[in-house]
Amino acid sequence: MIHFEGVTKQFGNRVAVDNVSFSIDAPQMVGIIGRSGAGKSTLLRMINRLTPATAGRILFNGRDVLSLKGGEKRRWQRDCAMVFQQFNLVPRLDVVTNVMLGRLNTHGTLKSMFNIFGKGDIDRALSALDRLGIVQEAVKRAEELSGGQQQRVAIARALVQEPQLVLADEPIASLDPMNAQIVMDALREIHERDGKTVICNLHTLDTARAYCDRVIGMRDGVIVFDGAPEALTTDVAREIYGADDSFNEAATSTALDAPRQRAGAVPLSAGAMTPAAAAAV
Ligand SMILES: Nc1ncnc2c1ncn2[C@@H]1O[C@H](COP(=O)(O)OP(=O)(O)O)[C@@H](O)[C@H]1O
Ligand SMILES: [Mg+2]
Repeated sequence: MIHFEGVTKQFGNRVAVDNVSFSIDAPQMVGIIGRSGAGKSTLLRMINRLTPATAGRILFNGRDVLSLKGGEKRRWQRDCAMVFQQFNLVPRLDVVTNVMLGRLNTHGTLKSMFNIFGKGDIDRALSALDRLGIVQEAVKRAEELSGGQQQRVAIARALVQEPQLVLADEPIASLDPMNAQIVMDALREIHERDGKTVICNLHTLDTARAYCDRVIGMRDGVIVFDGAPEALTTDVAREIYGADDSFNEAATSTALDAPRQRAGAVPLSAGAMTPAAAAAV
């Protein structure tokens, strides 16, 4: 479904992503790991056209998304919902309106300008918040919520976009371990229950191991590992992170207690995502 062919991004003389090729052929949860500056964000941002590629092609179901223009480009950006490290909510707006902003690309610009949301939009937003276990926060201002709750609002906003693909750029880097687990559980659940491909940049190894079906390791703009988490040995990790003999997995750990095996047992009813999510509400 998604196919990278020789994708390159240069910033001046600096090659941030260097001739990268890979395919995702079926819905997967893919973790991209590597240390800071490896090119993870640039790779993700080229998919939804936030950063223009210098060379190469990205095909989604056979269509070259790098050449889309105007309305087609906007539709594609709606099709790939993005979740950011810093949540990117509008702090003074209430939570449910923040979620409904995910509908804007669906409506015309004119309708958006007048902030006209239909009842359908409100219902969708509330049910997304319910699914994330935070519907009781719907009328609060976004800035009143904790970081973990804000990231769940951002995921609800991504859901109402009804995306084909969810892109998450270090979604847990600003969160404590418990909220990190809730947010990763939510992304995993979107993959499992909705059958979406989720591509998630993570700077820690253990999170990728715990949640992803497939891990891509980047170093200096190049893919140096692409495989199952089980194949990610300490030697491979050392290669990805470019560490010397003193390399220690603890340095790349957020210490999440959330094995992938457990994800299969997650209850899928609305509003009750996982035991961890329920405990935090
Ligand atoms: N807008 C930009 N202008 C110039 N250089 C950039 C820009 N964005 C990223 N880079 C450079 O590209 C490289 C890859 O960055 P990035 O994709 O952010 O890596 P990561 O997300 O893995 O930390 C880094 O060397 C970074 O300094
Ligand atoms: Mg980054």
